[in-house]
Amino acid sequence: MPNILAIESSCDDTSAAVLRDDRLLSNVIASQKVHEQYGGVVPELASRAHQQNIVPVVDAALHNAGIERGDIDAVAFTRGPGLLGSLLVGVSFAKSFAQALQIPLIEVNHLQAHILAHFIKRDDTYTPPRFPLMCLLVSGGHTQILLLRSHLEMELLGQTIDDAAGEAVDKAAKIMDLPYPGGPVIDKLAKSGNADAFHFATPNIAGLDYSFSGIKTSFLYFLRDRLQEDPQFIEKHKEDLCASIQKCIMDFLLKKLEKAALRNHIGQVAIAGGVSANSYLRESLQRMGEKHHWKVYLPPLQFCTDNAAMVGIAGYFKYLQGDFADIALPPYTR
Ligand code: KG4
Ligand code: ZN
Repeated sequence: MPNILAIESSCDDTSAAVLRDDRLLSNVIASQKVHEQYGGVVPELASRAHQQNIVPVVDAALHNAGIERGDIDAVAFTRGPGLLGSLLVGVSFAKSFAQALQIPLIEVNHLQAHILAHFIKRDDTYTPPRFPLMCLLVSGGHTQILLLRSHLEMELLGQTIDDAAGEAVDKAAKIMDLPYPGGPVIDKLAKSGNADAFHFATPNIAGLDYSFSGIKTSFLYFLRDRLQEDPQFIEKHKEDLCASIQKCIMDFLLKKLEKAALRNHIGQVAIAGGVSANSYLRESLQRMGEKHHWKVYLPPLQFCTDNAAMVGIAGYFKYLQGDFADIALPPYTR
């Protein structure tokens, strides 16, 4: 029954979690507010905030788990992908912690961690997904369709050829002058808007790949034209615009996921990553699952965006395989 301390610092959330086996004992997240005023994450500021947060966040995670430092059996950390200066803080902390306690280190890939969040035992009744599992990973930096054969075996079936889905949502929000990160704001405003008010076309991309940069550009041009006629256009139609652009992006995501699952005859379908918090995406996938008789897995909201619990569960599966990391491993950004 290993106690695993997990550290996540790849972007702008400093997080630490403690797991005992696959059970979550604590999960503490310090989100950085400093970036809001810049409309995006400023890497230098993120790194500095991680440095300020890391020790108190780890202390809180140990405290909430009710255990001492000496009870930890291994340290899992996000090695990449992410921002170099951000990753370095978590990586260095994890290494020092492991070295001081003479316990093994486990390196974790951030994307794999997002997906494995589905296997965190959050209560005694929870049954995790079975394999094979089709998963749509949608975050601020990545958009991928993956087929999982086991916890640590993932086959990449499709991905974006340019922007990520989260990036597209965030850019759409920025064009409308909404605060960063735009995803949750668009989600909220869209609830009181009409998703069929405006139509935005999705590109024709072969196979299971995606492209989002064209959607963003056509949204930008559409608004520029409308604003010339009416400078108040965005203000007047904010909710409808949010609902319509959200529908465009999420329907596109689901169309390819549906294709992937049907083509491969997979009846278990999951979504993961920050954008999997989107309520339109969640509801639409639920309906799609009912139609095709799939078992659909939606992560609890606390496990959608960046958190260390997901790093801990990925670390646990690697711990079981004895897959430990060398103290000299550098982080990777992509
Ligand atoms: O996974 P994540 O926390 O960080 C990365 O690894 O990138 O994902 C962050 C992304 C941002 O683009 C954010 O706008 C988006 O997830 N996001 C959402 C929602 N909540 C977060 N997008 C749409 N609807 C949401 N409710
Ligand atoms: Zn992430």
